[in-house]
This record gives sequence, structure tokens and C-alpha cells, in this order.
Amino acid sequence: MTERSLILVKPDGVERGLTGEVLARIERKGYQLVELKKLQATEEILQEHYAEHQGKPFFQPLVDFMLSGPVVAAIFEGDRVVEGIRSIMGPSEPTVAPAGTIRGDLGRSWGAGVQKNLVHGSDSAESAEREIAIWFK
Ligand code: TYD
Ligand code: MG
Repeated sequence: MTERSLILVKPDGVERGLTGEVLARIERKGYQLVELKKLQATEEILQEHYAEHQGKPFFQPLVDFMLSGPVVAAIFEGDRVVEGIRSIMGPSEPTVAPAGTIRGDLGRSWGAGVQKNLVHGSDSAESAEREIAIWFK
């Protein structure tokens, strides 16, 4: 099976009208969009999705941010798509993310608060399958 990745356009991206921009950057690279939907996340979905971060200081602010408006969930497919999309997104903190990446060009840091970094992308093929099962039940 070709590798898949789960992408979320976070509430800041949807609210700022950047959904198309985020998806377009990934599509232009050559990855195939295979599923797409807009939804309001729930506490349960986010507890599962961010299970690895439970107990960390940014966990609840992150969940609250992710509940603050609708998100767009997408599945992309392609050769080494997980690694490729991580490169297109850039690192977590928008202030230090390089120009040319989604987060570097468009994301916003808010002091010590949660990183409003526009986009989630799976960090491994295993995470991708786990996350796809959560968002596309
Ligand atoms: P993480 O999985 O480490 O980052 P990524 O999204 O790049 O895989 O963290 C998940 C999200 O949690 C991250 O996108 C933004 C938020 N976060 C913070 O707000 N502050 C932090 O110190 C960290 C590590 C993450
Ligand atoms: Mg992560």
C-alpha cells in the first residue's frame, strides 16, 4: 500500500481562509488528495489524537485551541508522503520555521501560549494510520 498521511488544517487556518493555500502547497508537490472533510472536533477525538501529549503543560491549551472552530481533515497519499509533508509544513514553532514552509510563511506564535501553526501532519506512517482511524471512522 502507498504511504498515507493525515493532515489537519487547524482552526486558525480555516478561520483565516487559508485552507486552500495549505492543501494547494501539498497538492503542488504531487501528493494525491484521497479524502477531505470539514468538521468540528470533539474533546474525545482530540484526547485520542494528541494522546502522546497528555500531561504536558500545553496539552489543555492545545485541545481548547483545536475546539475553537472547525478544522479540515484530509488524507494524502504518495511516496514518502509523511516525511514530505513534514518538510512542507516546517517545524512546530512558526517564529523559527523557515520561510518557504507553511508554518514559516503563515503561522503565528503567541508568546508562551499555544502555537497557532495552521496545520497538523502525521509524524510517521504508523501515526498516520492511527490518526486516520480517529478522524475518518
Ligand atoms: P508536536 O506533536 O510536538 O508538534 P507537531 O505539530 O509539529 O507535530 O505538538 C503538537 C502541537 O502542540 C504543536 O503543533 C503545537 C502545540 N505545541 C505547543 O503549543 N507548545 C509546545 O511547546 C509544543 C511542543 C507543542
Ligand atoms: Mg506531532
